[in-house]
Amino acid sequence: MIIRTERPDDISAIFQVEAAAFETDMEARLVDILRGDGDLTVSLVAENDGEIVGHIALSPMQGPVRTMGLGPVAVRPDLQKRGIGSKLINAALDIARNMDIQAVFLLGHAEYYPRFGFSPELAAPFTSPFAGPNFMAKELEKDCLKDKTGKVEYAPGFSKI
Ligand SMILES: CC(C)(COP(=O)(O)OP(=O)(O)OC[C@H]1O[C@@H](n2cnc3c(N)ncnc32)[C@H](O)[C@@H]1OP(=O)(O)O)[C@@H](O)C(=O)NCCC(=O)NCCS
Repeated sequence: MIIRTERPDDISAIFQVEAAAFETDMEARLVDILRGDGDLTVSLVAENDGEIVGHIALSPMQGPVRTMGLGPVAVRPDLQKRGIGSKLINAALDIARNMDIQAVFLLGHAEYYPRFGFSPELAAPFTSPFAGPNFMAKELEKDCLKDKTGKVEYAPGFSKI
């Protein structure tokens, strides 16, 4: 299995993986909207035997430091719990680090993301329409969020779905 950047001919397979992983096609449509808006800054696929089996997105965010939003993340339901999600998340975080991003925010399962260093406590001082126990942050630059507060805003696509 390889993790690589999306190519134009992956677009419909990405939609299908996102739609299959979530209850509705909302996340799949979000990915298309972000792409159309030029906000799908990082879009990685997990490819296995020529098939797209997972996908992850990173989009720009406005915040107190150089920030990106991670997600949606999707793995084909029959291939979940085999480490594909972890590989996608770690690859996306490596790219964000190389882009000199200081912090990454996401909205996700409170039991899953702490293993990657995400914490709801780090995100709590920041206001967002998505604030709550599932809103988490991870510092790529140590202490960059310390004593900071204010608004963090996802790319406009998140308000269009
Ligand atoms: C969440 C998701 C991306 C993880 O991908 P994956 O390839 O299954 O994950 P990995 O194999 O790397 O990790 C498996 C671990 O994730 C945990 N996990 C998976 N889904 C979870 C969930 N909804 N809540 C809590 N933990 C979850 C598994 O229990 C497993 O835990 P363990 O290692 O302690 O046994 C995938 O399950 C998925 O596509 N889910 C549906 C869509 C979704 O909810 N996306 C994330 C929302 S931002």
